[in-house]
Amino acid sequence: MKTILDFLKVKRENKKITMISTYDYWSALICEEVGIDCILVGDSLGMVVQGQDSTLPVSLDEIIYHAKAVRRGAPNTFIVVDMPFLTYQVNKEEALKNAGRIMQETGANAVKLEGGEEILETVEKLVKSGIPVMGHLGLTPQSVHALGGYKVQGKTKEKQEKLKRDAKLLQDAGVFSIVLEAIPKSLAEDITNSLEIPTIGIGAGNKTDGQVLVFHDLLGFFDKSPKFVKRYLEGKKLFKDAISQFIKEVEEETFPDEKHTYL
Ligand code: KIV
Repeated sequence: MKTILDFLKVKRENKKITMISTYDYWSALICEEVGIDCILVGDSLGMVVQGQDSTLPVSLDEIIYHAKAVRRGAPNTFIVVDMPFLTYQVNKEEALKNAGRIMQETGANAVKLEGGEEILETVEKLVKSGIPVMGHLGLTPQSVHALGGYKVQGKTKEKQEKLKRDAKLLQDAGVFSIVLEAIPKSLAEDITNSLEIPTIGIGAGNKTDGQVLVFHDLLGFFDKSPKFVKRYLEGKKLFKDAISQFIKEVEEETFPDEKHTYL
């Protein structure tokens, strides 16, 4: 199993970190079997698994339920769990209690929090209590309403400076890595070069220290996906073809055949 020290080593050695967001036993098992560096039990759970239109409705109990299943599927993989909306923003004491539940009940290795300057005290509190924290800057989906939608961030000079400052502040507060979501490649590269901790990009170009994608996106289970998603499989079509074949064979009485029958 990797540790936070391995994340720093990967950066020093100029290698790449691979991370996938996944939410259940069987997908975690697949990720572990192919040697992914890190699994994120992301609050994208809300949209990908629950069919919500944002990550905001995801609760602490729900993310814990899914993270436990992921741990069973990937007992030897570094697992990061997203702290859901309002489980860390109210105050740092509550954040510690909630992060503590995630660590104790799921066997996760770290938690991830969205935001910069405004969450520094909370990050410090968690890190000082022995909980590794991954940061998340750029497009932070829990703030979708404040951002005015799922849009590329860091387009103006002022916003770029703020993101660079936030990344440094998070590093100083003790995060062991930062997700950079939906920002221009050149900005992600600048931030990456300015930090000692690794950055993991999603929609941030190929110059970050690692990449993360959502399991269902990279396997092509949704008809529409953002520009930054590469579909490595047409999963939806393959699943539909298989299920359609099942329906046909049942209707034709060609399933079950002798091979699949106790005689
Ligand atoms: O919730 C999630 O899956 C994430 C990644 C997309 C970075 O935050």
